[in-house]
Amino acid sequence: MAVLTGTLTVNAAFLQEIKEDDRDLRQLLSSVADRCCRPTGPGPTARPLVEQLWKLRDQLALHFALEDAYGYFEDAILESPRLNGKAEKLHAEHDVFFLEICELVEAAEELLYCERRAPSHGSISVRFLEFHTRFERHQREENQLILSAFNDDIGVGD
Ligand SMILES: [Fe+2]
Repeated sequence: MAVLTGTLTVNAAFLQEIKEDDRDLRQLLSSVADRCCRPTGPGPTARPLVEQLWKLRDQLALHFALEDAYGYFEDAILESPRLNGKAEKLHAEHDVFFLEICELVEAAEELLYCERRAPSHGSISVRFLEFHTRFERHQREENQLILSAFNDDIGVGD
């Protein structure tokens, strides 16, 4: 029997499709990571990093909007209550990641425009690489959630 709740459920098929079709996002993450390994001083030499971060921010906005719209559903008829806590946690991380990428863009712009309190390229790089590691973990956990949701659908469970 399905249970009506005010929580999240997972559309595993859509979520998987969004993830498989996300080459642009992976390429941008890799490009920014490469930029982080090439130190620059303040000023115009920081422009390539800023431009890559702008693209990454916009791609992440699209990625999260698609996942939020098609991969997770609120107030749904929930048939996998054991997945609900995990789905809520992962869904909530989207806002945190987006805020962080906006802060990284701002930091890189301060470096580009030589603002008085601009962070160094090194500190931006450390923040990005830490962000990247956590985002990869988020992606892996969503993939595990997809597998669990498929297993529940076909009655395998774990
Ligand atoms: Fe996600």
